[in-house]
Amino acid sequence: MDFTLSEEQLMIQQAAKDFAQNELLPEVIERDDAQKFPAEQVKSMGELGFLGMMVDEKYGGSGLDTLSYVLVMEELSKVDASASVVVSVNNSLVCWGLETFGSENQKQKYLTRLASGEIIGAFCLSEPEAGSDATSQKTTAIDKGDHYVINGTKNWITNGGTAEVYLVIAQTDVEKGHKGINALIVEKGMEGFEIGPKENKLGIRGSDTHSLLFNDVKVPKENRIGEDGFGFKFAMKTLAGGRIGIAAQALGIATGAYELAKKYSKERKAFGTEIANHQAIAFKLADMHTKIQAARHLVYQAACDKDNGNDYTLSGAMAKLYASEVAMETAVEAVQIHGGNGFVKDYHVERMMRDAKITQIYEGTSEIQKIVISRSILKD
Ligand code: CAA
Repeated sequence: MDFTLSEEQLMIQQAAKDFAQNELLPEVIERDDAQKFPAEQVKSMGELGFLGMMVDEKYGGSGLDTLSYVLVMEELSKVDASASVVVSVNNSLVCWGLETFGSENQKQKYLTRLASGEIIGAFCLSEPEAGSDATSQKTTAIDKGDHYVINGTKNWITNGGTAEVYLVIAQTDVEKGHKGINALIVEKGMEGFEIGPKENKLGIRGSDTHSLLFNDVKVPKENRIGEDGFGFKFAMKTLAGGRIGIAAQALGIATGAYELAKKYSKERKAFGTEIANHQAIAFKLADMHTKIQAARHLVYQAACDKDNGNDYTLSGAMAKLYASEVAMETAVEAVQIHGGNGFVKDYHVERMMRDAKITQIYEGTSEIQKIVISRSILKD
């Protein structure tokens, strides 16, 4: 396995690093405090091509590989996980799903604008009673001939208030179970579609998370993605790639927290020397570095599996499971190394600790990743 980056990948990585330092870092604490969506930064990321990274250039994307996308996610997440989740959802869950399974008409109408960053999208699967148990959809999309009528509620939707296009998973035929589920494209402003209140969250507070309410929303049949009944498979296939993006986000948070802790430990003095000279601190850094490197290998492997046309459901789930646990552990230790300073906002690591937690929850909890992994390794 050779993860040597190409000239192009190194340039993209550097561009993301510069953007994170120059555009995301300056007001990241204030945005977190105020739960402010990074609107201007998202616009700039669109201009840089970060919002449709893997989409073909003919649909307004950057035409890059998954590894480049992972490198960008990692760099952005070192600084601002609220901004990077917008990139992850738009790229992996919205653009990828539309490009891979959408009709030509849907690509022309929606993908081109999403990939260029003109608008952003949201992926709407979770419900009050269908989070991990995703086949238990209560939102209905009743077939009325030339259109569907959607009723129900979706929860915890990233980009919920700011998106213009929503990929909504809903049950059309209850008798058919998961084979009776459809994925429909809903536009902001469609009659009966209402955006619920914004969630007040522990972490990624700058990201825009809402519940969504559907009350007799009429959606034309041409907005269905794939064949009738393809909606659950669409969600699962899309999430398999989405998990690589979240794994990269977790890797970035871990790396960002580790780098801050390392720097601090070489500056802060206690008992007559820099704290890095105390083995208690040096060993923490050694553990962090080792685990981050192991996580990086899993994440890059999953990205390469996707780029090489290999199955990536297992490698993506392993990458997300491990990287998110390393992110949480590393961020907690980074706060510990910072001592009292770690507990106040100015030093960034307390925010990273709060942000890390969501990587163990969204796009499939750690427990769901273990279901995916164990089913995969036990099937033969
Ligand atoms: N690719 C293709 N098909 C898949 C698949 C995959 N990766 N995983 C499952 N399927 C198919 C199965 O083959 C099966 O189809 P068949 O009957 O034709 O064989 C069908 O889907 C149902 O699968 P299961 O019987 O395995 O279903 P299950 O009820 O046991 O659940 C699960 C499987 C993996 C636990 C699934 O429910 C799951 O992934 N749950 C977590 C959902 C999730 O990740 N939610 C995150 C919300 S999105 C989000 O967080 C976005 C955000 O805003 C950041």
